[in-house]
Order: sequence, then C-alpha cells, then structure tokens
Amino acid sequence: MPRPWWEDAVFYQIYPRSFRDSNGDGIGDLAGITEKLDYLAWLGVDALWISPFFPSPMKDFGYDVADYRGVDPMFGSLDDFERLAAGAKARGIRIVLDLVANHSSDQHPWFVEARSSRLSPKHSWYLWTQDTGKPPNNWKAIFELGSAWFPNPATGERYLGTFTRWQPEFDWRNPEVRRAFYDIMRFWYGLGVDGFRLDVATAYLKDARLRSNPFSWRANPDFFQKHLYDRNQPGVHEIFAEMRKVADEAPGVGRRPSLPGERVLIGETHGQDAELAASCHGKRADELHMAFNFDFLNQRWKAKAFKTSAERWYSLMPIGAWPNFTLSNHDRPRHIWRYRARDPETTESRAKVAAAMLLTLRGTPFLYYGEEIGMGCFRLPRKALRDPLGVKTWPLGYLGRDSERTPMQWDSTPGAGFGSEEPWLPLNPDWRERSASAQRGRSSSLLEWYRALIALRRAVPALRGGSLRWTPASRDVLAFERADEAAGERVAVFLNFASRAGHAALAEEAAVLLGSARKEGRALAAGDCALGPNEVLIARLKPPLKPRPEPRQL
Ligand code: NOJ
Ligand code: CA
Repeated sequence: MPRPWWEDAVFYQIYPRSFRDSNGDGIGDLAGITEKLDYLAWLGVDALWISPFFPSPMKDFGYDVADYRGVDPMFGSLDDFERLAAGAKARGIRIVLDLVANHSSDQHPWFVEARSSRLSPKHSWYLWTQDTGKPPNNWKAIFELGSAWFPNPATGERYLGTFTRWQPEFDWRNPEVRRAFYDIMRFWYGLGVDGFRLDVATAYLKDARLRSNPFSWRANPDFFQKHLYDRNQPGVHEIFAEMRKVADEAPGVGRRPSLPGERVLIGETHGQDAELAASCHGKRADELHMAFNFDFLNQRWKAKAFKTSAERWYSLMPIGAWPNFTLSNHDRPRHIWRYRARDPETTESRAKVAAAMLLTLRGTPFLYYGEEIGMGCFRLPRKALRDPLGVKTWPLGYLGRDSERTPMQWDSTPGAGFGSEEPWLPLNPDWRERSASAQRGRSSSLLEWYRALIALRRAVPALRGGSLRWTPASRDVLAFERADEAAGERVAVFLNFASRAGHAALAEEAAVLLGSARKEGRALAAGDCALGPNEVLIARLKPPLKPRPEPRQL
C-alpha cells in the first residue's frame, strides 16, 4: 500500500490573523494567505494547518466559534476560502482546518438557545450543574485562573468553560452533538479540505460524576492538577473512531471515491503526557492518524533530552501509527527564543540544528509560521496585549501567547510587508533585519536552510519513511541513521547541540548531502567523524557492496 500523503508531508501552521493582511485593516486574512501561496510553494511545504477563521467574537481569537460553517468577515468569505483552496491545490498544497469541537462561543446560536431555558432543545448539548452557590468541583478555567463553572441565572445552573467563560463546553455524550459535528466535518470535506486539527480533542468527555482532580506539582500546562476527570476519559476513543469513519467515508477529491487515509485527523492532545497522546491513535491505529506530542516543547537544549523524548515517543506508538514532531505553535513561546544563547550567532546556529532535527527525524514535522526566518519572542507593552491569558497574567512575562503571534515579517518596508502599519499586534522589534525577503537568496540564511532541508526530505525517501537507529556519538551530539532498506539507501544525521567540538561514528564512507559547515558532495571517510561547534552534517552512506554474482557454472 502506498504511504498516506501526510506521512510524507511537511506541515506549516498559519495563524491567519498574523500571516498577511490583504486589505490593510490590521488583521491577516484568507486572501492574504492566497497571496503568499507562491512563497509557501517555494519553501516546499506540503500542507497548511490554518488556525480558526470561522465567525467568532474573538474572545480567544477564533477558538471561540459562533458558526462552524462560515468565515468571519474579518478573514473574508467562503468564496475567499474556495479561492485559497483552489490556489493551494494548484500548487500541490493540502489544507487542514482547525475544528474547535470541545466548546463553542457563548454567542453561538446553539448556546444562546441552550442557556435560555432548561426546556430548550439545545440545553442538553452543553454541560450543566445545578447552581448551589459554589462550583461542584475544582476544575479550572485556565485562561481565567479561576473556577471553570460559570453561573447562568436564567436556568439557575452553572455551565463549564475550561478556557474562558466565553467558551462553554459541549456534552459529547449527547448523540445530537456528535451528529452535528460529523456533519460539519462532511461539509468541509465536501469543499475539498484534507483534514482537521482537532482542538483539545482529549477533553471532549468529562467524568460523569464531576469528580475533583487530584493535585499535581506541574504548573504549566497543568495548573497544579492531574487532569484525571476533566479530560482523558476512555470514552473519547469511541468518538475518535467515529470521526475516523467519517473521514474515511468522505467523498474523494474530485468525483472519485475517497481513498482510506486521504483525509487526515490530527489531535491536539492537550497538556498530555506522551503515553496518553499515543493512545489516541487507537490500539489498532484506527482512531486519529496523528496525535500531537508536545514533549519536545518542554525539553531543554540537550541532545540527550531530545533523544530520550523521541525514543519514548517511538516506543509508545501502536503498530501502524505514525509519529510527528513539533517545536513551536501559537500557544507556546517560539523555540528560537526558548533555546536562545547569549550571542545571536549561537542562537541562529541552534535554530539550524533544531530545524535539521525536526526535518530528519522519523515522523511528520509541523512548522509554525515565521520559524523559518527565526522569528523570536519579546515582551509586549501592557497596552498591546490581546490574549486573555496574557492580560490575566500580566506583568508575568511570556505566560500570555501574544509574543508568538506577532505579524509575519515579510520585508523591510513599513509594516514589514504584513499589509498595514498598524497591525493588531506590534511587530517584533527586529523586523527590519529579520524578514523573509532579507533571507531569501542568501545561502547562509535560516530561511534557505529550511528550504534546503525540506527539499532534501522530499528528495530522499529514507528521510521520510526510513527506519531510524541511534548511532554512537559524543555526549552533545544527536546521531542517528535513517535507512530505506528497499531502496538500499542509508543516511547519517549528526547534530551537535554544543558550542564545542564533538564527534560521531560513521559506519561507512559517505558523501555530504547537506551540512552547515561542509559542501554537498564532499567525501567523508568511515570511522570517527569530528564535528565543529553546533555543526549539522547529513550524509549519504555508501551502499554496502553487492555480492558479486557467482560465475555461471557451465
Ligand atoms: C488549544 C488552542 O491551541 C488554544 O489556542 C486555545 O486557546 C484552546 N485550545 C481553547 O480552544
Ligand atoms: Ca485584513
């Protein structure tokens, strides 16, 4: 069976408010993404995950949806979406939408109806408890830093909101809710979307007895609770299996029937341990195609730390499941900032090592817009903050999420080519020096490095589907071999995480495929290979000599 497309793909997450503003109102939009498709095709990415652009009061910037089948006017229209989808398709780029199905906006007509009366047909679509004057348990609204239960005087009850009070949670035990969401998925499949990223997928179901969570020492992202009861309920697997069926049965792109695996489901397994995330693939790999493992986002800048994390993730994969890796997204400070060194050159070199790791490990890589040009984080002034969590936790820096959501830095014209001089969030102060146009065509730039890595991954099957074996190296070096036995192809990857020399063992003679310090094609001798500080070396191992055919017996 051919490999499904998403196992071979490089994904690129777009936060639409911040990518490109086509009409100068300060907010990125769908037409803006369409304008940048040529750039994305040039970069070489295969699929876009677009954060929500549906009608929304924007209390959580689109993660509070008021209509699951439309486009918020600030982002454009359904026609704009269809133009974007057609443009992407023409360039061979797939589109994955962000389905926020754990909760809606409190302005969604379903909730407006539900909260009006206990007798309303939509009442049972959401989660309620009798309002006795205090919350029924210790569950927290994580962007409010308080109880997750909010009073609804009209019915004398409280409703649940794990994020903000503006994001009431559905009761996924109700079959009508399930049907409604499966129809929404079919609607978008019908428009040609290639799959969904499922927002907080592991929170769809809550403990039926509403028990309080036990204490945990982990502050971030757990808020000092072990989420035994407000997430991670075993029944969620049934929902994943149902969603998988809907995906597999969706009509094929064009007129032909869908091929299994043509549509992809990627679960956000919120604040989870890797083991729980891995279980979302299903015991027989018949649930989510991929579950985000956020363990990399919590690692220190140490080769050993990433090795241990990846090793564990691989060992947890059920047979038939496929891993994925990510270093940055719209909820956490960007990794170039997390892994910054004292001097900017080392920071830049580390970003190159990180990119090489993400794009050569066995598993689908997810990039976050702007990481390819090394966009970083900075402290925004109080009055510029927009994220509810950031506003709530100010003046504690970097707990809010605005800093990783600033406008994409396209060029050095006023407004950084984002499209307006007054964007919804301020530009990172380094925008004049750090932009896509300043880096494009400059061979030593981070942008060209990403592009070369993506191209290499596309050109070398072993880097996509090949097996992975860790190989011997000095302490700061992450070294592994990717092998495609059928094609007889083996690739060695050496990543030096330290600013001092290191070394790794080359099993065979090799030739450089891509290196931060060596030219493509250069020959490397078998044996001990010395590496410079923060060096990346990717090399094709010489195929073992084929046994000579026996002379024919006459
Ligand atoms: C996870 C999303 O990634 C985050 O941005 C959002 O605020 C919450 N889910 C709530 O939808
Ligand atoms: Ca706009």
